[in-house]
Amino acid sequence: MTTGRLITFEGIDGSGKSTQARLLHDHLTAKGQDAILTREPGGAPGAEDIRRLLVEGDPDRWSPETEILLFTAARRDHLERTIEPALKRGTTVISDRFADSTRVYQGAARGDLRDLVDRLHDAVIAREPDLTFVIDMDPDTALARGLARNSGEDRFEDMGAAFQHKLRAGFLALAKSNPDRCHLIDGNRPPEAVAQDVAAIADAL
Ligand code: ADP
Ligand code: TYD
Repeated sequence: MTTGRLITFEGIDGSGKSTQARLLHDHLTAKGQDAILTREPGGAPGAEDIRRLLVEGDPDRWSPETEILLFTAARRDHLERTIEPALKRGTTVISDRFADSTRVYQGAARGDLRDLVDRLHDAVIAREPDLTFVIDMDPDTALARGLARNSGEDRFEDMGAAFQHKLRAGFLALAKSNPDRCHLIDGNRPPEAVAQDVAAIADAL
């Protein structure tokens, strides 16, 4: 029996991950592939409930440690209820964010907690994507795009431009240290041009 592949999109807020995840899903399904599009935090009913606790409200609402626990709880639910059943059916899973976001947001940018992030990941998630696209963008442009959406989910955007610059450096370092699975994609281009690069890499997999 063949199992499906897990493909993730990572990057700073407003870098175009959701747009690219959707375009890749369109591309794969147009070719007749069985694929689902999902997201983190969220992607399952319980995980979506936890999402609201994380993305709304005051930036100081949670400590970085509490955030790690909440994001990991949401991820475990997403993995159990959505990702693993789909992979077992042979379906490709495209996730808008996954564990790399916790490594960068909570593990590096909000305090030096990478060891805790890694230990929790090993204990209750223990799964890496088959392929990760890290969409790289100028943080100031991405922040403006993200805030312009008026989504009401701006808790992390509200941490400011310096935080987004720190996140970008974190994602660049992460891509560099995982060259087999991570592909760095220049997001400072029209969506269709970005999508062409993404589709070519996914098709090769
Ligand atoms: P993310 O999921 O990384 O936060 P989105 O895909 O939601 O990013 O994009 C954020 C905003 O920028 C949206 O309004 C989207 O339409 C727009 N956008 C996405 N990709 C591009 C692009 N390549 N060029 C210009 N605008 C874009
Ligand atoms: P998302 O909806 O992808 O935000 P955006 O569209 O702005 O990129 O994710 C919500 C926020 O949660 C985002 O600011 C990043 C943050 N986040 C973490 O801090 N850690 C995590 O593990 C995940 C999955 C997301």
